[in-house]
Amino acid sequence: MSCSRRSVLLGAAATTALGLCSGCGISVDVPPSITGNLDENSASPNYGKIAVSLAANPTLKSSGGALILTVAAGNRPFMVPAGGVLLLRRTESNSSDDFVAVDALCPHAGCPLGYAKQNDLIACPCHGSTFAVVASGTECIGALKRGPALSGVQAFLVTLDTATQTVYVDLRSSPSCGDGFIPQVMGGKVILPFASVPDLMTVGGSWTGAPQGLGDTLIVFRQSATVAVVLSAICTHQRCLVRLSSNKNGFDCPCHQSTFTLAGAVTGGPAPSPLKKYTATVMADSVVVTV
Ligand code: FES
Ligand code: FES
Repeated sequence: MSCSRRSVLLGAAATTALGLCSGCGISVDVPPSITGNLDENSASPNYGKIAVSLAANPTLKSSGGALILTVAAGNRPFMVPAGGVLLLRRTESNSSDDFVAVDALCPHAGCPLGYAKQNDLIACPCHGSTFAVVASGTECIGALKRGPALSGVQAFLVTLDTATQTVYVDLRSSPSCGDGFIPQVMGGKVILPFASVPDLMTVGGSWTGAPQGLGDTLIVFRQSATVAVVLSAICTHQRCLVRLSSNKNGFDCPCHQSTFTLAGAVTGGPAPSPLKKYTATVMADSVVVTV
C-alpha cells in the first residue's frame, strides 16, 4: 500500500486511522495525538520528561494502546522529536516495562508510526517498515526490523509512577539496549573506553550510539591518532541516522542523500542545518566526549 503522508497525518490529528501494508500482512493504527506536558524546569527531578496521566488517557490503560505526544518547538539543550513521540503500552504488569516510547516519525519518508500489537512491532502504515519494540541480544528498542526504512528510530526511557499512575517519557535518556554497550553521561562527559568500543582504537574507526542521559545519538570518527570527530548522528532533515561516507571525508544520510563535512556542515541534499558538533579528547585508553 502506498498512502500519502498527508492522509496519514490527517488521520493522526483527527481520529485513529487504519493503515494496511499490502504484501507485509501488518495492519497498524496511527494513534491519536495529544499535546505533551514537558517539564522544562532544569531544577526539577522530572526535567526533560513528558508526563502522561493514565486517568486522563484511558487508551494507555490497556495493552495495545498508543498515543503520539507532541511538544511545541523551542530552544532546548536536548532534542525534541519534531513529529512527536509514539508512546505505546505492550503489557499490563503495572510497571515501567509495560511502556515503550520512540520517535514517532518513520525514517523512510516521515509517516507517523503506530503499534501493531498483533505482530508486537512498531510499524509504518505507509510502506510497511517495522521496528523492534523490545530489546533483544544486541538489538535495541527501535531497531530496524524491515525496510524500506534504512535506519531505526530513537527510543526514549519510560518510567511509570505506580502511585500516581503517571507515565514519564524521558527525552534526555535512552533505555538499556540488550547486550550492547551503552555509555552514560557523567559530569558532562561521555567516556568511550576502547575496551568497549574497539573500533575507536584505530584511525579510521567509527562508532554510533545513544548515551544514556544525552537525548541524542552520536557518531564518533577516529580521524587521526590524536583527533576524534564527534557529531550528532541525527540528520537535521527528517532524523534518519547519518553514516560515515565511503571515502571517510564526511557523512551522508541514507534516507534522502543529505551530505555533511566532517565538521557537520551541509554540502548537499535537503538537510536545512548542520549536524550538532561535540568536542572530544583522545586518551590513552578511551575517547572522552564533552556534552
Ligand atoms: S514512510 Fe515509508 S515505510 Fe515509513
Ligand atoms: S532524513 Fe532526509 S536527508 Fe536525512
